Amino acid sequence: MLGRLNHVAIAVPDMKAAMAVYQDMLGARLSEPQAEPDHGVTVVFVELPNTKIELLEPLGDNSPILAFLQKNAAGGIHHICYEVEDIIAARDHLIEKGARILGDGEPKTGAHGKPVLFLHPKDFCGTLVELEQV
Ligand code: CO
Repeated sequence: MLGRLNHVAIAVPDMKAAMAVYQDMLGARLSEPQAEPDHGVTVVFVELPNTKIELLEPLGDNSPILAFLQKNAAGGIHHICYEVEDIIAARDHLIEKGARILGDGEPKTGAHGKPVLFLHPKDFCGTLVELEQV
């Protein structure tokens, strides 16, 4: 069911500082910051040869990563995203296996304009998992 690792998302308290780390210290290529008001985050994509890192900074008062940053003041790995070919089939399979889908269980349009779902961390080894249909 799982395809490629699409990205690893890192929540950061200060996007400018995080961009300096990846650009200046690590020599990575970065996108421009992209505001995603619907998702409550500003995103910068770090392009790697085999995958992407997404730096996420809270945007607005209801950002879904605010609570995470309260517990992880320096930032940290927030979720990993796997590609699937058919997100509805993947969802139905996981529900049948007893896994919990976050939200109303319907795919939303993610930061790449593709349908995504988030899976409950307690069902996936303590890791928030995003599925993205590609
Ligand atoms: Co993501």
